[in-house]
Parts: sequence; C-alpha cells; structure tokens
Amino acid sequence: MTAGLKLPPGYNFLQSLWRTYKQVKNPIGTIEESMERFHGTYSVNLGRLNLIATQDPAFIDYVLKVNHKNYYKSKILTQQLGQFLGNGLLTSNGEYWLKQRRLIQPGFHHERIHALFSIIKKTVDDFLKDFPTGPKVDVYPLMNKLAFEIVINTLFNVKIPQEKRDELGSFISETQDFVIRDVRQPYKSWWFKLSGEVDKNLKRAAGARQIIREIIQQRKQSTEKFNDLLDMLLDARYEDIGEPMEEDQVIDEILILVIAGHETTANALSFALYLLANHPHELEKLKSATAGLSLDATVRNEQLSAVINETMRLYPPAWISDRVALQDDHFKGFRIPKDTIMVLFYYGLHRDAQYFDDPADFKPGRFLKKNSDKDKPKAFYPFGSGPRLCIGNNFAMAEMAIFLEEFVSNFTVKATGLKPGVKPLVTLRPDKVFLGVDKL
Ligand code: HEM
Repeated sequence: MTAGLKLPPGYNFLQSLWRTYKQVKNPIGTIEESMERFHGTYSVNLGRLNLIATQDPAFIDYVLKVNHKNYYKSKILTQQLGQFLGNGLLTSNGEYWLKQRRLIQPGFHHERIHALFSIIKKTVDDFLKDFPTGPKVDVYPLMNKLAFEIVINTLFNVKIPQEKRDELGSFISETQDFVIRDVRQPYKSWWFKLSGEVDKNLKRAAGARQIIREIIQQRKQSTEKFNDLLDMLLDARYEDIGEPMEEDQVIDEILILVIAGHETTANALSFALYLLANHPHELEKLKSATAGLSLDATVRNEQLSAVINETMRLYPPAWISDRVALQDDHFKGFRIPKDTIMVLFYYGLHRDAQYFDDPADFKPGRFLKKNSDKDKPKAFYPFGSGPRLCIGNNFAMAEMAIFLEEFVSNFTVKATGLKPGVKPLVTLRPDKVFLGVDKL
C-alpha cells in the first residue's frame, strides 16, 4: 500500500543529530525553523529512531482522530511518568486505556462537574483572601498553588491536614521535575538509577499513595456523600462486570488527575494574567462583560472563554504531543513507516498565519462566535483531539473562568515591562511572571 511513497522531506542522519542537539538547547526555535523550511511537515532520521514532525492540522487530525487506532502514545513520557504514577488514563494505551476511559468519562460530563463548581468557587474565594499585592508579584507560583488546591479539593471534598497536602504537593512537583530531566537527558538515565534518584522518587510515590489510600479507606467507611471526584471514581462500575475499580487503580487515576490537571491549568492562568496585564483594553472588556455574573453564567460566558482560548492559542500548555505508528501508514502521499514517532507541534500550528490572522497578536475577539471564520480549517488543539481528547477540558475551562471572573472583579493587574520566560518542558511552563497587582 505504501510502496513507492516517500517520507516527507527532511534531514539525513548527521543533520538530524545536529538538529537534535540544537533542539535540547532551544526546542521551540529549532522546530519552528524546520517547520518554515519544510512547509509544516518534515522527517528526522536518527538511525533506528524515525520521526515525522508536523503542524499541518489535517495531518494532526489524521493521527489523533481519523486513523487513531494506528497511533499509540509513545513510551517517552508514558513509561517515565508511569513508573511513579502507575497505570492510569494518561499513561496507558490500548484495551486497558479504553476500559478506563469508558469508566471515568461519565464523571466528567457537564452535569457531574457542575456539582464541583461550588467547591472550585470556595477554593478561589479562600485563595484570593490572602492574594499578595504590590508592584512586582510573580503570579506563577501562586497560580500553581491555586490549581493544586482546586484539583485536591474537587478530588477530596474533606479537610486534609496541611502536612499531607504538602507531602502530596511536593511529590507531584518533584516527580514532574525528575521526569522532565530524565526525558531531556536520556543519556543520564543510568546515573539517575545509580545515584539513587529513581529510588528516592519511588519512595516518595509510595508515601503519596499511602496518603491517598488512607483517604479512600476512610471514605469507604463513611455513609455520607461528598459529591467530589473521589465519590465519582469509587461509584463508577465497569459496564461488563458491574464491578468497581480496585483500590490501587483508583489511586493510579487520582495521581494522574492531579498531575494532568494541575500544571496545565497553572500555566494557562499565569499567561492569561500576563496577557491581560499587557492589554489593558482587553482587561477592561473582560471586567465589563463579567460584572455581577452568577456561577453558571460565569462558566458559560463567551468573553471569558475567548480570553482563555486566545491565551492557550498563544501559549498552549500542551505545546507538543507524540504518537507512535503501530503499522505502516500513509497520508497526503507521504509514507509513515511502522514505529515512526509522530511529533504534533501545536505551538507552531497555533501561530501559523495560514490559519490565524495576525497570529502573534493577543486578540480574544477572534474566538467570539460572531467573528468565527467557517472557511478556515480547525486549527486549534489546546486539549488535543479524538478519543484521547483531554478528559478534563470542561472542568479546566470552568475552573479558569471561575478564577478569572473572581480575580478581575477584585483585583487589577499591570504590566511591569518584564517578559516571562517560556520553558517548553512536558508542559509550556512560564518562568517568573512579574505583574503589578492591586486590590480594587
Ligand atoms: C488548561 C488545562 C488543561 C490543558 C491545556 C490540558 C491538555 C490536555 C491535552 C492536550 C491532553 C491530550 C494529550 C495527548 O493527546 O497526548 C490531555 C489529556 C488529559 N488530561 Fe488534560 N488538560 C488540562 C486540564 C486537565 C484537567 C483539569 C484534568 C483533570 C482534572 C485533566 C486530565 C487529563 C487526563 C486524565 C488526560 C488523559 C486522557 C486520556 O488519554 O484518555 N486535564 N490534557
């Protein structure tokens, strides 16, 4: 079927080695350069490892949706994360993933997450009580703390002692940092094992699992309903056997939800505040569009969604993703050999002038229904696409809307002239988002 077809144009072995070296130092710039040179799709030849990188929305759609059965998540992240987090939605593939997705998906439907809005609101209100003000406040650590509090409170709608929260929090951030180092420096993996770093993280993981196990056991003894994500996970039954998950499976899924739902949201909110501070007319527009809204109206508010979407267009928290071809395949006349790693470069697509006018500009209005350009292909993938679309997308949009509404009605942010650093790690993490913050 693929005989006679060629790989997309790209780099030979030596060039690929050089590009990979450059990419470790400057991932986004190096990929952007190649995308421009090869018009949006190129191949990389690293001997036994072959990659095709693309920012063509049709190609991305093909991999994630049209022929998704031929593309699994690669081992690069799933295995590294999986050894600490266990086998959950984000780290599994195939039959097991599908079984878990079917089980958990209903818990994230609109009506189920609606019950969580009041928990989110209370968390935001408590958080904003002590929000620091001043001419130069770094909002990233604050957004990180908030996103962590929201995910923990919606998972466990009970009081958890501060030291246990801190232990969970430090496990999550240390694991993330360790996995990033391991993925970026695979040649050091042997050293991480030998030096005891892997063991240290495994021990931490065991501690985190024990905290969650105790919460689950207490919950199982209670007859009360807490209407949180833990109730949802414990109440879910496999369709075929009518049985719930084993305790260890519940723990795996909880750790996955914390890791997947925490840093992504923190990044998006930090960039949103930065962009609003640097576009005061957009901040004003948002304030007047959201004044006095109820909780339900906040979550449905079009201006809030537009600001959040435009932020994630410019700074997609999931800036890149990958899949591995299970069998030979082809697309648009290009050959995709079995085992090829497909690199999906959302960051580049979101800034591609073919799909977005003035792509570097912050213009939330482009996401308002009245301005939608139906002739343009869908080129916006903040939550991925296809069957592995982010399960928490509605939850994430709701929590970000609830925070931003509450924030802009109580505080104002001003630009400091300092641009945040942008760190393309597993997620696109901002570094030092200094803003002037004043109470209204
Ligand atoms: C701004 C916030 C968020 C962004 C940008 C985001 C983005 C994404 C993306 C792009 C994927 C798909 C990855 C891929 O295809 O390789 C994903 C998967 C996932 N996300 Fe999110 N996410 C966010 C928030 C959340 C939240 C709040 C939760 C849960 C509370 C969550 C849970 C998950 C899970 C469990 C998966 C794996 C789903 C599966 O493979 O079946 N995410 N997310």
